Order: sequence, then C-alpha cells, then structure tokens
Amino acid sequence: MCQLTPMPASQTEMVLRRVVMPNMLNPNGTMFGGALLSIYDEFSGIVGLGLVKGKIMTVSIENVTFSRPICAGETVVIRGRITYTGRSSFVVQLDTETERNGVSLGHAGSAVFNYVAIGDDGRPTMIPQLILETDEDRQLWEEAEARRKTRRK
Ligand SMILES: CC(C)(COP(=O)(O)OP(=O)(O)OC[C@H]1O[C@@H](n2cnc3c(N)ncnc32)[C@H](O)[C@@H]1OP(=O)(O)O)[C@@H](O)C(=O)NCCC(=O)NCCS
Repeated sequence: MCQLTPMPASQTEMVLRRVVMPNMLNPNGTMFGGALLSIYDEFSGIVGLGLVKGKIMTVSIENVTFSRPICAGETVVIRGRITYTGRSSFVVQLDTETERNGVSLGHAGSAVFNYVAIGDDGRPTMIPQLILETDEDRQLWEEAEARRKTRRK
C-alpha cells in the first residue's frame, strides 16, 4: 500500500551520471536523442519511486529539449526532482548538463515526465503530497500547474 506521508520537494532530488559510449551515437557522431530519452525514462521512474512506494506509469512526456550536441566520452549528469503532485499524478523534471574529465560543459537539455500512480485495480490512486519550501519549489510547481491547465487529454 502507498504511504501518504508528505515529502519536502528537496528530498525528491536525485542525480544520475552516465558516460556517453560509442553505441549511443547517431549517424552524425553525436548522442542519439532516443538513447538519452531511454535513460530519462528509467531515471525519472526511479525519482518517482522515491515519493510513491508503489506502481507508477508514465502518462506523458513534455518539453523535451536537446540544447546542444553531446559527444562520446562526455558524462551526462541528469538532475531529477518531483516538482508537482496532484491527486494521483506527479511531475518529474529532468535537467541535464555534461562534463568532460570532471569539468562541466554546461546545460545540454531538459524534459518533463508526467506519471500516474496505479492501484492494484489498475486505476489511478492517491499519492503523498509535495511540501514546497523554496521560491524555486513554488515556481516549478506553478509551471507544472500552468501546463496542466492548458493540457488537452
Ligand atoms: C495511467 C492511466 C491508467 C490513467 O488513466 P486515465 O483514465 O487517463 O486517468 P484519469 O483521467 O483519471 O487521470 C488521472 C490523473 O492523470 C492525469 N493525467 C491524465 N492524462 C495526463 C496527461 N496526458 N499528462 C499528464 N497528466 C495526465 C490527470 O490529470 C489525473 O491527475 P490527478 O489524479 O493528479 O488529478 C492510463 O492513462 C494508462 O493506462 N495509460 C498508459 C500508461 C502506459 O502504458 N505508459 C507507458 C509505460 S509506463
């Protein structure tokens, strides 16, 4: 059963580091977007399970940006955090930078994953709420809420 104890937004933050290998490249010799999306898909789920101790499903992916090419040998550093909780849905925001030899090369992309928690009956179920503590927490929440208001199902 899913515990409904609220959690501060800062406690949902996780970081994943992954070296870009030659088998992750596109025909142009830079990182294939699908390879990064696959890493995002797995990692955002792990971030989500930090809050929701039960079954979760990706319901949509928004605002995926690849802001510059990423080369083999760079390390992608993906920071993930939950930025919004609804009744059964929540939002995982991912921001990516890369490093080479431990030196940051700056921002390289971002994405927003929307999840829904599912009960044993396969239907959406209630989740713990996020506690907002900082101005950044509140800004990210408002951005998620604005997307939710304009979303067409
Ligand atoms: C997840 C699923 C059960 C939700 O069913 P549903 O009938 O759409 O659920 P509801 O309309 O009751 O919406 C449930 C919540 O999802 C949110 N939601 C629905 N569609 C959404 C979308 N496209 N983007 C973001 N949130 C969405 C709703 O706002 C609602 O949030 P709330 O409970 O926090 O208020 C259903 O969409 C599904 O099974 N999708 C397939 C998921 C999947 O196979 N993913 C790929 C592998 S994980």
